[in-house]
Amino acid sequence: MYRSIATGILLASASLGYAQLEGSAPIPQSPNHPVPAIQDTETPAQRDARMAWWRDARFGMFIHWGLYSIPAGEWNGKRTDHIGEWIMNDLSIPVADYKAFAKQFNPTGFSAHDIVALAKAAGMKYIVITSKHHDGFAMFGSKVDPFNIVDATPFHRDPLKELAEECRKQGIKLGFYYSQSQDWTAPGGGAAYRNLPGHDKQTGHWDKAQDGSFDDYLHKKSIPQIKELLENYKEFPVVVWFDTPGKAMTPERAAEVVKLLNKYPNLIWNNRLGGGYKGDTETPEQYIPPQGYPGRDWESCMTINDTWGFKSFDTNFKSEETLLRNLIDIASKGGNYLLNIGPDSHGIVPAPEVERLRAMGKWLDVNGEAIYGTSATIFDTPTGTFSTTEKGRNGQPRFIPTWNWRSTTKANKVYVEIFDWKGSFHVDKMPRKVTGAYLLADKAHKPLKFTQNGDSLDVQLPAKALDPIATVLVLNTTK
Ligand code: GLC
Repeated sequence: MYRSIATGILLASASLGYAQLEGSAPIPQSPNHPVPAIQDTETPAQRDARMAWWRDARFGMFIHWGLYSIPAGEWNGKRTDHIGEWIMNDLSIPVADYKAFAKQFNPTGFSAHDIVALAKAAGMKYIVITSKHHDGFAMFGSKVDPFNIVDATPFHRDPLKELAEECRKQGIKLGFYYSQSQDWTAPGGGAAYRNLPGHDKQTGHWDKAQDGSFDDYLHKKSIPQIKELLENYKEFPVVVWFDTPGKAMTPERAAEVVKLLNKYPNLIWNNRLGGGYKGDTETPEQYIPPQGYPGRDWESCMTINDTWGFKSFDTNFKSEETLLRNLIDIASKGGNYLLNIGPDSHGIVPAPEVERLRAMGKWLDVNGEAIYGTSATIFDTPTGTFSTTEKGRNGQPRFIPTWNWRSTTKANKVYVEIFDWKGSFHVDKMPRKVTGAYLLADKAHKPLKFTQNGDSLDVQLPAKALDPIATVLVLNTTK
């Protein structure tokens, strides 16, 4: 049942262009690439080695930061109700007006040290930052295009360079998001059509300054900038995070990018390059796939409020409970959680975001063993049901999770992250033999009483949960 629903989503998305790629639908794959990518040529063992750190990591920080943090969701007296980094497109801001934000951009509050330290305190193992979003503004020093933070702003600093140095020092990995196809300020750059007055249906453009040849844009800006990003930051990026390829990224055009990526055999890149390349990772956006993606690496990217790029009036922050349970839910399905922060125009991370990340880190300090380096649950107990009346983001029956518990796995241990504390834990089918049980947050690891009869397992728990959000029961197991 689960499988057929997943296939349905894939087929439904096959014929769609930009608009859907903005969302979460998997990108259709074609095996006949003009240039084979690393995923087409490596052995399964090579692939496992390449993906190893990423699979162990489970938790990463997404950073959406750019010029859009200046309007912060509002321009010319109008507020956007869409995500903040789309403001130029949504409010049809002319190219010249948007480019003028650069002169005001002086984010002296930015501290690579503090952001990297925050990621570490949150228990995150990697960072992915927007090096250039759809607005075309490069957040790094670029020789190929002057519309960049070093040359076009009074700031004159390269945050990517500073982050790379700090990540190196503090021992955490760094990846770059790059919008390879959409570029709303470079002539010829792609623009997703959002059905707004004055926007051209074919090109998506709303300003003559955007017109030009896509191939020129690709060859003179996009590919050369990707090259700069790959060359200029030593061992980083370890991840390149592409986005919204649209129809413009034909197999041939994408192949040109692949040629470049192939020079970096340890690089991990996502499924949003386009041209039928499947990349390394599925990227469900703003949701957790009910059953993960069996056989595929995947990463749910999610906002901490309702926007990626900073919006001054978006205070709809998710609770620490939701964020932590999302992380656990994702880990239990074998995926990674890429949780976004949106620094403001001074380079400051909003306080409610900092608070939540620190709280998550406190839980992980105690319970990280149940998350890092684990694999998906071995229980086939459903963690929810598909609604018979409601539809989800992809037009398929909506998955309604039950929030009682989740489980993650290591070779000799099964972790059960309990949300809904009952004083006992029971499963009908325990696939492994249990040799001991204790609570991870109990420093003494005091043995808990359990009985395993045939398939079923019962563990006696103390009356009170050690953590109201999730208390981890550890089962020592043999196969
Ligand atoms: C979407 C949006 C983009 C955001 C991305 C994050 O594709 O276009 O603004 O960066 O999702 O996943």
